[in-house]
Amino acid sequence: MDIRSTFSLSGKTILVTGASSGIGAHLARVASQAGARVVIGARRVERLEQLAQDIRWLGGEALVVALDVTDRASVEAAFDAAEVRFGVVDVVLNNAGIGNAMGALNISEEQWRSMLSTNLDGVWRVAQCAAQRLVNAGRGGSIVNVASILGLRVGTGYSHYCAAKAGVVHLSKSLALEFARHRIRVNAIAPGYFKTEMNDAYFDGDRGQTYIRNAVPMRRLGELEELEGPFLLLASEAGSFMTGEVLAVDGGHLVSSL
Ligand code: NAI
Repeated sequence: MDIRSTFSLSGKTILVTGASSGIGAHLARVASQAGARVVIGARRVERLEQLAQDIRWLGGEALVVALDVTDRASVEAAFDAAEVRFGVVDVVLNNAGIGNAMGALNISEEQWRSMLSTNLDGVWRVAQCAAQRLVNAGRGGSIVNVASILGLRVGTGYSHYCAAKAGVVHLSKSLALEFARHRIRVNAIAPGYFKTEMNDAYFDGDRGQTYIRNAVPMRRLGELEELEGPFLLLASEAGSFMTGEVLAVDGGHLVSSL
């Protein structure tokens, strides 16, 4: 077995949602380095252009698509554009998400709906669209959903986020069950805490630093590079017999002492 080709995405087309920053932007570059043609989608297209230029400069192929995962027409249009340029999307990194702390007593109907609409409905919408097109083309594929350790345990101020991410965990397993017969694998990554635009103000402050030292057995935040291996395992043929799995990448946060 050639280990490098096992983890390769050569010849594959991948769609990364929420690729304009953080985990999505990082793993889009990684997918390109692993040989994939990369379709990068987000609402802030101008930020995607810079990422696409970087990928092309390094010899990769990238297509920028405007994408709002809460909007079915936008999702379908992104897959259409991907197909025109590169062909059917083989791999999806379902990464787009929002997150903000809010006391459970104060969440409004609009805030709740917004969270579920992006973090759960969006993942479902993109996964279903990808699978419909793969099935129509008679091809297998891999869908990697970005959940969270807050989909497996709970945290104060995150009832809406926890509910959405727990939904992503269970949705991944349900879709894995139904799509296996079509050779489409569905897995999830559950990151612990990584400093990105979603949380940098908190983790730059004393409270965030103290929290990490006390709560995470490894006593530090994750580095984006530490998501590369788990992502490539699930996205590539290296994980060809894995489906319905949830990989926590969290410095031991889920096994913190009670
Ligand atoms: P980020 O804020 O840098 O990235 C989120 C991306 O999703 C942004 O590019 C944003 O524009 C995009 N997005 C939001 N709503 C969208 C929509 N309706 N349509 C298309 N794109 C949309 O934050 P980060 O940390 O990179 O988040 C990526 C994923 O990782 C999210 O699903 C998040 O919940 C998850 N995650 C992050 C953790 C962390 O510690 N950073 C921990 C656990 C999970």
